[in-house]
Amino acid sequence: MNGHIPNMRLEGKVAIVTGGASGFGESTVRLFAKHGAKVLVADVQDEKGLSLCKELACNSINDVIYVHCDVTQDSDVKNVVNTAVSTFGKLNIMFNNAGIPGNLDFTILESDNENFKRVFDVNVFGSFLGAKHAARVMIPAKCGVILFTSSVASVLSGESPHSYTVSKHAVVGLMKNLCVELGQHGIRVNCISPGSVSTPLVTNAMGLEKRVVDEIVCESAVLKGVVPEAEDVAEAAVYLASDGARYVTGVNLVVDGGYSTTNQTYSRVIKQTFESLAKKI
Ligand SMILES: NC(=O)c1ccc[n+]([C@@H]2O[C@H](COP(=O)([O-])OP(=O)(O)OC[C@H]3O[C@@H](n4cnc5c(N)ncnc54)[C@H](O)[C@@H]3O)[C@@H](O)[C@H]2O)c1
Repeated sequence: MNGHIPNMRLEGKVAIVTGGASGFGESTVRLFAKHGAKVLVADVQDEKGLSLCKELACNSINDVIYVHCDVTQDSDVKNVVNTAVSTFGKLNIMFNNAGIPGNLDFTILESDNENFKRVFDVNVFGSFLGAKHAARVMIPAKCGVILFTSSVASVLSGESPHSYTVSKHAVVGLMKNLCVELGQHGIRVNCISPGSVSTPLVTNAMGLEKRVVDEIVCESAVLKGVVPEAEDVAEAAVYLASDGARYVTGVNLVVDGGYSTTNQTYSRVIKQTFESLAKKI
């Protein structure tokens, strides 16, 4: 018995996942591999990346390799694409997922300029390099899937720092432009925009335990009864990467339990007003 699952949706595919050592990336690596893909994990956290591959190999999933890659370095990104092709023979899926939250500077006057540039370097330039090197091998192959992780911050303003929000809007812009350019080569390009999920990115940025972040997320959720996990994003990535989504391109798939569909502040204020009026009667 190997570690794969029945009805494998990515059998025979080769994927790169940047930021694949932790959080959404790690869950996606696990799920891609279970669905039969050969996966290259690209990250700067070498120990975590290598131990993930080792753990999967212990479960008889052998076609997962780790390569150190800082997505802001052209030579590193070029190397992971070349390594995927030389090791596995081709590249079908490039998931540009690595990202950082940056400082929690919420006001423009307190925003640190170097932090702004760093957030752009990783979240936007890193995604651009991933797409560029993937396109280099996908265009001649006349097929491929390029995915990005954007954020609910790309559709909902005011809940993340300016640098992060703007960087995630830029990722959606890049996805849409690439969708148009690369469609003629049979390449699909899509985004996943998750809501808040208690990955290390969030727990570290907020300095809170996973349990506490989960409570905050569930308390503010529109869809009740689900504690969102990294696997929910991985499931969206499997769908977009699979042939089941063969006519889906140019989409920013928001995975937030409906959080961004509403703003209930007005209703809450009305409710509070009526409640306080009722008390006075
Ligand atoms: N967790 C959330 O609530 C949330 C919500 C929306 C979007 N996102 C986005 O999801 C993506 C994944 O984040 P996560 O929550 O899984 O966080 P995470 O911190 O668990 O994982 C991010 C990974 O990216 C890697 N990384 C960072 N900089 C890198 C670089 N320069 N080169 C290569 N790898 C690098 C990290 O080492 C880490 O392994 C990010 O783009 C993030 O902005 C997260």
